[in-house]
Amino acid sequence: MFFCLLQLIVDLNIMFLCSAGDWTILPTKEIKTEEGSNVTLQCRLDPRVNLVHHGSFWFRADLSGWIHIYWPRRDDPGPQLLQYRGRTTVDHEDLRKGNLNLHICSVQLSDAGLYKCFVLTLRSSCTINMTVGERERNTQHSETSTGSCDRAEPPLVNN
Ligand SMILES: *[C@@H]1O[C@H](CO)[C@@H](O)[C@H](O)[C@H]1NC(C)=O
Ligand SMILES: *[C@@H]1O[C@H](CO)[C@@H](O)[C@H](O)[C@H]1NC(C)=O
Repeated sequence: MFFCLLQLIVDLNIMFLCSAGDWTILPTKEIKTEEGSNVTLQCRLDPRVNLVHHGSFWFRADLSGWIHIYWPRRDDPGPQLLQYRGRTTVDHEDLRKGNLNLHICSVQLSDAGLYKCFVLTLRSSCTINMTVGERERNTQHSETSTGSCDRAEPPLVNN
């Protein structure tokens, strides 16, 4: 399964590079954040589509690894890169509204990179380049740099 998914990344990169057609490819966005903060990477399909019934896949193009996988109606943490374990959430209510929003809790310096999300069935993708600034160390931070990521279960989808 994992290797199939890795192959899929490669295939998709080639497909997205070689094809234009009716695909919705949203322009690359830049986002700047700071170490230790919580961040939301936001993409919206235009026109809006209810995405609850479409798989959407977030990966790091610069690492060739999965960050968050959503199969229709469920999240699949299986193939996720270890560094993102327990730190990512996709709100299913956002998906219903057509928003591909990835929440990353307690951002680390190593999270900086090129994030891509694609919705295979809609032949759509978006790319976000995230840069992470170092948190100032001379202030009175007693907590660890990883912070806490209390994971709330995503709300159940009813339709
Ligand atoms: C990030 O979110 C978690 C809960 O998911 C919370 O405990 C933490 O305080 C938040 N951190 C910041 C810097 O807002
Ligand atoms: C991402 O942004 C950084 C900082 O602006 C830049 O140096 C880097 O080249 C960008 N990467 C890509 C792939 O666009």
